[in-house]
Amino acid sequence: GTLVHSLSLTEIEYLEDALLGVDERGTIAFLEKSVQQDQVDARLQAHGWAAGEVQVIEMQRGEFLMPGLIDTHTHAPQYLNLGYGQQYELLDWLSNLTFPAEAKFADAAHARRVYDSVVERVISAGTTTCCWYGTIHSTTKILAAICHRRGQRAFVGKCNMDRNSADYYQEESAQKSLADTEDYVKFVRARCADPEAPTPAAKQNGGTVGGKTPRRSTALVQPILTPRFAISCSDELMSGLGDMMDRDPDLPLQTHLAENPAEVDFALSLYPGIESYTAAYDRFRLLRRNTVLAHCVFLSASELDLIKARDSGISHCANSNFNLRSGTARVADMLDKGIKVSLGTDNSGGTAIGILSALRSASTASKTIIFHERDKKPETASSDDSVINTDGISRPAGFFAQSHLSVETLFYLATLGGAQVCNLEDRIGNFVVGKEFDALLVHTGQKTIASAAAANGGASIDDEIEKALASGESVLADGVDNPALMLEPDEGIERVFEKFLFTGDDRNLRAVFVRGRQIGGREIL
Ligand code: GUN
Ligand code: FE
Repeated sequence: GTLVHSLSLTEIEYLEDALLGVDERGTIAFLEKSVQQDQVDARLQAHGWAAGEVQVIEMQRGEFLMPGLIDTHTHAPQYLNLGYGQQYELLDWLSNLTFPAEAKFADAAHARRVYDSVVERVISAGTTTCCWYGTIHSTTKILAAICHRRGQRAFVGKCNMDRNSADYYQEESAQKSLADTEDYVKFVRARCADPEAPTPAAKQNGGTVGGKTPRRSTALVQPILTPRFAISCSDELMSGLGDMMDRDPDLPLQTHLAENPAEVDFALSLYPGIESYTAAYDRFRLLRRNTVLAHCVFLSASELDLIKARDSGISHCANSNFNLRSGTARVADMLDKGIKVSLGTDNSGGTAIGILSALRSASTASKTIIFHERDKKPETASSDDSVINTDGISRPAGFFAQSHLSVETLFYLATLGGAQVCNLEDRIGNFVVGKEFDALLVHTGQKTIASAAAANGGASIDDEIEKALASGESVLADGVDNPALMLEPDEGIERVFEKFLFTGDDRNLRAVFVRGRQIGGREIL
């Protein structure tokens, strides 16, 4: 059937009549274009696959496969607060709503109940890889175990917080926080080990320490260090986390950065004389290639340069930035500097589950910037300057700042961009042979036309399209119950795909796959 995936910040590839083979380890074994139905068995044989031993999933018109969506920033324990608290800005929102809700996760039964619901819900929305925050409690181990059991690819972090929080929700000391974190990391690595994990597809791109390439874990669920933000972590704690990353370069880290003006002022007040909020993390050696920085709304050009120099990644959480009145992150400037950027839902700062919503908010955010700054020229614009962007392609300086984010760029951020920020670009993000098969099987209303053709004694799809158009009847899908996708039967895949990104939802997800295994979706294949 049809495959849609991202090739770069500016290119989506649409492949019709594709034949994609996934082996028993969940790796993409081959991808062929323009294979007709009667050639399938022969093509399988050519790859040494016996037709009878392979499950063949044949997609109908209006269905397509796309890479799984990647959410690089969200908070599992805030699930029950979703859609509530929009009257606050960040710091009041944290103390009035968020810390009280998170404190309840001292209770393992509460944690089990909420974590199981939220992971299931997020998988249903098509999130195949998720960077999760837990709480300060050891019950975060339950969150990791649930992601593992449900088969989601995930980075799960126990929060570090030893200052400026609340007496009922704070760790007793930096040493205790560090010791609990060591214990947590060990637990997750043991509990969520995957004995059958494939070896990396492409060349390992782990950093090198002392001339050695560190082992890079292939586990689907991995621990991630999670200093909540500089405000809630003492110097001793942040320094201890920097030491842990020195000892263990495979360990990623996630935190919040420059989300809200009052937060930035508070953070700066804790480091007299420091040049910037970003520099505070750098002081403790926390900015690395496996660091995920959420929000990044209020960053100077030199802070963006520092993030680029450290090769850290950014999670753009536009829905949350609107909801908590934080501001609008300058994603185009980040891209124009060649920084890795991805999308985050940031529930419950953000009110919407899933990366399709995050993508729409990112689109809107980029359009508000264009609206307000229409007449401004990008600051870097000297026409002969060029920049190597994060997809490895050289473009003129200020290329992205000239307009709103395109469908191609938004889709990149939701898939390949997320893979880059998670340092999984060699494993996931698009359908390159050798990568793992993390994918969504999407169906839209056009399926009914093919079904009608089949029901009608094998009349051709084209005949059915002609009939549907001639009859003047509504072509609302009856095989799919998302009426938002109102597709004319003759619409091409590019329009169908754009409509899905901007109006589709869980109801259009027939199946959700991680590493070749179905973990969700509306139908068991
Ligand atoms: N900064 C520190 N903690 C949080 C949080 O839970 N959500 C958001 N949006 N920002 C934060
Ligand atoms: Fe957050």
